[in-house]
Amino acid sequence: MNTLDVDYPKVNSAAIEQAQRDALEASALFQEDEKARLVAEIRALLQKRNAVLIAHYYTADDIQELAESTGGCVADSLEMARVGRDHSAQTLIVAGVRFMGETAKILSPEKRVLMPSLRAECSLDLNCPAELFREVRNKYPDRTAVVYANTSAAVKAEADWVVTSSNALKIVSHLKQEGRKILWAPDRFLGDYIQRETGADMLLWPGSCIVHEKFKASALIRLKERYPQAEVLVHPESPMDIIKLANYVGSTTNLLNAAKNSKASVFIVATEPGIFYKMRQAMPDKLFLEAPKEGEGATCESCSRCPWMAMNGLKNLLTVLNDGSNEIHVEESIRVRAVESINRMMSFSFAASPPACS
Ligand code: 13P
Ligand code: SF4
Repeated sequence: MNTLDVDYPKVNSAAIEQAQRDALEASALFQEDEKARLVAEIRALLQKRNAVLIAHYYTADDIQELAESTGGCVADSLEMARVGRDHSAQTLIVAGVRFMGETAKILSPEKRVLMPSLRAECSLDLNCPAELFREVRNKYPDRTAVVYANTSAAVKAEADWVVTSSNALKIVSHLKQEGRKILWAPDRFLGDYIQRETGADMLLWPGSCIVHEKFKASALIRLKERYPQAEVLVHPESPMDIIKLANYVGSTTNLLNAAKNSKASVFIVATEPGIFYKMRQAMPDKLFLEAPKEGEGATCESCSRCPWMAMNGLKNLLTVLNDGSNEIHVEESIRVRAVESINRMMSFSFAASPPACS
């Protein structure tokens, strides 16, 4: 792995524990009648405010259910960006993490973008502050800066291209064909995978996802021995030893489609378990197992859900619809630069394949 020697900010245990506390508060369990009341109020307010709910696959089941049943969308990060841009609603409620809300705002500055929690971060975004990225980028003026969507608007403004896990392979292959050398940020595991697949000359920022980096190859091999017929589906934010065990590697949408298109009836899935809601809904007869993680049941701090995704709950969703709080703002000088690198990706991706979610 050709990793940059950069002293980047790590996400410490205290920050993860705080996020988990926030997530617990947001995802409090309700009595059925209270849940029904909250859902009914949210539905009515979405209509009244001309708002659409756009949720990521990693959000809680009740958020995904609401998005689908109110004319919104459950999608991967690329498709969330497209739906936000193309939907006629004037208010976008983005249930995901901050970079998803920012991308929606960058693409649709005239719309109001609200998020159930503004504390919903992403470890990759936190690993790559804009000032540090700019400093490193200036050291490599001969390289094309390709950043993952899981970054702040300010980092995107410094980049030539934005990519997501669903288009990174194609975009980097295209850049390699053009003879470009790449400065990649911030996920070293995704970067490593793309580098191996494309053979491109890539310098990798050393960031990581606190959820995907915890998958454990030895435990996955043991689980595979118990279910020899199972296919292994892996999100490319996972380390290379996990990716090597995969039958299929792809973004959340691609993993879902791979399971749909496969004849197998058992799958071991190495990504955030929020995806199981859609997998089980679409394929009730198939068995989906979580890939095992380091320290599970003992020391692991981020084993279960992404704590930031879990900050999206029914109560805070209702609050933002009621009072218009948690609005996303992106400074115009940053937005106009970030939109260029995002639009480059959008034109490339949607010229190549039709949208998946309407
Ligand atoms: P997708 O682009 O596959 O939705 O991934 C986003 C993400 O945050 C994965 O951890
Ligand atoms: Fe970020 Fe990982 Fe959470 Fe995705 S799962 S939002 S990459 S911390």
